[in-house]
Formats: sequence, structure tokens, C-alpha cells
Amino acid sequence: MTARTERPLVLGIETSCDETGVGIVHGGELLVDAVATSVDEHARFGGVVPEVASRAHLEAMVPTLERACTQAGVRLADLDAVAVTSGPGLAGALTVGVAAAKALALALGVPLYGVNHLAAHVAVDTLEHGPLPSPSMALLVSGGHSSLLLVPDVTGDVRPLGRTIDDAAGEAFDKVARLLGLPFPGGPHVDRVARDGGPATIAFPRGLTAAHDMADHRYDFSFSGLKTAVARWVERREASGEPVPVADVAASFQEAVVDVLTRKAVLACRENGVDTLLVGGGVAANSRLRAMAAERCADAGITLRVPRPGLCTDNGAMVAALGSLMVAAGRPPSALDLPADSSMPVTLVQA
Ligand code: KG4
Ligand code: ZN
Repeated sequence: MTARTERPLVLGIETSCDETGVGIVHGGELLVDAVATSVDEHARFGGVVPEVASRAHLEAMVPTLERACTQAGVRLADLDAVAVTSGPGLAGALTVGVAAAKALALALGVPLYGVNHLAAHVAVDTLEHGPLPSPSMALLVSGGHSSLLLVPDVTGDVRPLGRTIDDAAGEAFDKVARLLGLPFPGGPHVDRVARDGGPATIAFPRGLTAAHDMADHRYDFSFSGLKTAVARWVERREASGEPVPVADVAASFQEAVVDVLTRKAVLACRENGVDTLLVGGGVAANSRLRAMAAERCADAGITLRVPRPGLCTDNGAMVAALGSLMVAAGRPPSALDLPADSSMPVTLVQA
């Protein structure tokens, strides 16, 4: 079964974490991006609870699908293909999306594309900024992943250069926010309070940037030591009886994260002869990351591409975007028994 390759109408489903996303793309044009989130249900636990996320996907799937079709004025019968996040992500959460996509593809008699969540984060940018130059570099930073990828072809050739060896960047934001008494998810709150603080007031460590680390972990990240350094600093301050300068801690912590992310991303571009850097994932919404990436890319002669914040966080449009590119590239669809693969390797663009 193959889909019409010219201006295909592709529906994308995303359920890898706590967002139920359904997006529809017509050719390279985004028609709708419907998202339901269970983030409020996880807030009191300070992190996403897999079982709660799975149940929320099950409840939100059909209403979100109906909302997407209604808003786009699309009938399911008009679809040329269905795409779904096959992995990586939470196993139970992924299963809900994969099962829904299989049911749709089977009932409609259209091809099914099981795609990699990280490649979809890269592909979404084409909806706003057009085709990706080959090769491009992608820095993907979210609550679940922090990766540096060399991308010759987002539909089939994605090469990992580096990743976090412990916490993801967004996870570090969320943990530090909790330490500072800010709500979950903490990234946007740290971003906000940091505006009134000093980015150089406290010298927090820059993980994996020392010479010996650069030898073994040139493009890798580590945020666990930074998180611990912030925790110790706050503890010492509290023990001294002095108030914790929340804005300064937030700003100095954020500066340490953003400094390392942008430094390594620009280095990777330079050393691999790549002149386009794409930044995606929830943390790409961070105002300091956007500003520093813009500054450092301009200095290095690198073109920076960052999707608008709504497309940086998890959504269905990114899956539809990648599915659409796969159809246009003439890639064969996935088998109907495709798995929900919680640890799907980034090199595997399609299941
Ligand atoms: O991509 P995403 O919606 O979900 C996954 O984790 O895959 O990313 C959510 C993460 C959370 O850790 C959140 O705190 C972080 O992105 N985040 C931010 C900002 N907005 C969201 N981190 C820093 N600054 C922000 N403005
Ligand atoms: Zn994501």
C-alpha cells in the first residue's frame, strides 16, 4: 500500500509522554495541531507518572482526534496516511497512540508510518522554515532527552553525536525549580524568575567541559552534577539563616545549562562543517537559550532555526510533518504489527 506522494494529507499522533497530540499536515502545510495535556495531573508528584499519563491518553485520544478533524475541516476518509510516534518514550503511553494509529490505518485502508520521536522534533521545523539543508545539526532538549544529532536526511539518516549521560536538560530545570519552591513543570518558572537575577552571580559548574571530559565526551552533556551543586549551595545558604536569592540561583543555574548546550552545539557544527543549527524540544522555549544560541550562531556564521514554542514541546504536528516527508520521499510504510518501542534508537527513524 502506498500513499499519494504529491501534497499528501497526513495525520500524526503523538503520545510518548504527557501530551496527547493530533496534527494534520497537507503537503508541507500545517492544517491543525490539537494537543491535550495531562501535565496538571502530574504536578503534585513533581514529575510525569507513567500510569497516569497512559490513562489520560486513552481518555483524550478520540476527543483530540475529533477536535483536530473538525478544526481542519478534514474527514478521516480524506487521509492519505497515518503517522505515529513509535518511540522512544513511556511504554504504556506510546502503546495508546500506536494502537489508535493502527486502528485508523486499518479502518481507512491507508499506509501507517511508525516514526522516531526525536526525528519528529527535527522534522517539525520544516512546517515553519521550509526544507532542511543537508546536513543540519539538531540540538534537542526536553524533559526526556538532550541530544546533539547530525541530520543528513531526517527521513532516514540521523546520526547521534552526543547525548546526556545522566539527567535531561528539562529534567534539571524541573528539579532545580522544585528546590527553589517553584511549580512543575519548572522550566518556564525558572526562565521567568531568572530575568530578575544575575547569570554570573554564582559560579555553577559546566558539566563535561573540562579538557579530559572533552576527550571522551566531546558532544555529550551532564546536568546531574550541576543540579547537585545548586542543591548544596541552597542548603548552605539555608543553614546560614540567610534568605535564598531565588532569582540569582535561577539565573546562574540557567546560564550554566545554556552555556554548555550552545557551546557544544556550535562546536559540533564547526567541527562537522555544518552551517545550520536547529534547536527543538520543550527547553527550546527558554528565552536565554534562544538569545545565547542566536548570538553564538551569528558569531560563528551558523543559521539558527528554532520552531515557535508550541511546536517545540511535544505535539502531533511534528509526527504528521515527519510522516508527510516520508510519504513525499517515497519511503515504504511500516508493518501493521509495528511495536511501541520505549527505547527506540535515534538512528532508527522509522519502525
Ligand atoms: O518537549 P517537552 O514538552 O516534553 C518532553 O519532555 O518530551 O518538554 C518539557 C520540558 C520540561 O522539562 C519543561 O520544564 C521544559 O521542557 N521547559 C522549559 C521551558 N519551557 C518548557 N525549560 C526551560 N525554559 C523554558 N522556558
Ligand atoms: Zn519530546
